[in-house]
Amino acid sequence: MAEMLKIDNLHADAGGREILRGVDLTVEKGETCVLFGPNGSGKSTLLSAIMGYSTCRITEGSIIFKGQDITHLGVDERARLGIGMMMQRPPNIFGVKLGDLVKAASRNPGILDEADNFKMGNFLERDINVGFSGGEIKRSELLQLTAQSPEFLLLDEPESGVDLENIDLIGEKVKSLLYDESGPVSVQKDVSSLIITHTGQILDYIGADHGYIMKNGKIQFCGKPLDLLRDIRQNGYGE
Ligand SMILES: Nc1ncnc2c1ncn2[C@@H]1O[C@H](COP(=O)(O)OP(=O)(O)OP(=O)(O)O)[C@@H](O)[C@H]1O
Ligand SMILES: [Mg+2]
Repeated sequence: MAEMLKIDNLHADAGGREILRGVDLTVEKGETCVLFGPNGSGKSTLLSAIMGYSTCRITEGSIIFKGQDITHLGVDERARLGIGMMMQRPPNIFGVKLGDLVKAASRNPGILDEADNFKMGNFLERDINVGFSGGEIKRSELLQLTAQSPEFLLLDEPESGVDLENIDLIGEKVKSLLYDESGPVSVQKDVSSLIITHTGQILDYIGADHGYIMKNGKIQFCGKPLDLLRDIRQNGYGE
């Protein structure tokens, strides 16, 4: 396997406070990694740091993506290199219609026809996220990610706040980002992912190679994802 992402001793501030305190993480090509951790431990901040969002400021360490140092690249450059993110709480974007963004993000001229499969056909003329319900935001984020079709997926709690029927939709759509399902058996694509989940429900749809637990801005444990989940359910995070 080739190395896709290598994070070394990453420190980052958000809101003037140090949140990431020396994160080390390597993700290989085609690898699916799951990130657990208590509320406020820095999981979303780590994803923001990888994506390059300005809400977080990297102060030390490095992020290497496909052999290139992206630590200080802009978010647009990282997106062009093949990193895409489904945010936990994406902002409202007034004046930009969902359909226009989806079209701009995709090389597929027929991408808007996909919207119905995400139950988003009636949302294409609406400003992005404005007045969307929690579940609608998740489906909209996944439609945008499918349009971008990135090589490295950052998914921040894709199933949280989603009703049971829509969890199935979300799970299947995440699966089709990671697996080629055109043949008789689904085959893992050369797509890597780092997925934050509290419940592990997404693991009913996809396999994961490694699990990590973040605490106090550092990755403190790694193990098999389902083993970690069982342990967290039984013993909590040991706060
Ligand atoms: N812009 C900001 N200003 C102030 N504090 C911030 C900012 N961004 C993040 N933080 C703080 O950093 C800490 C980590 O936040 P983060 O969103 O990364 O946690 P998390 O692990 O994703 O938690 P959750 O499971 O609740 O989503 C929190 O205490 C949060 O309040
Ligand atoms: Mg979070």
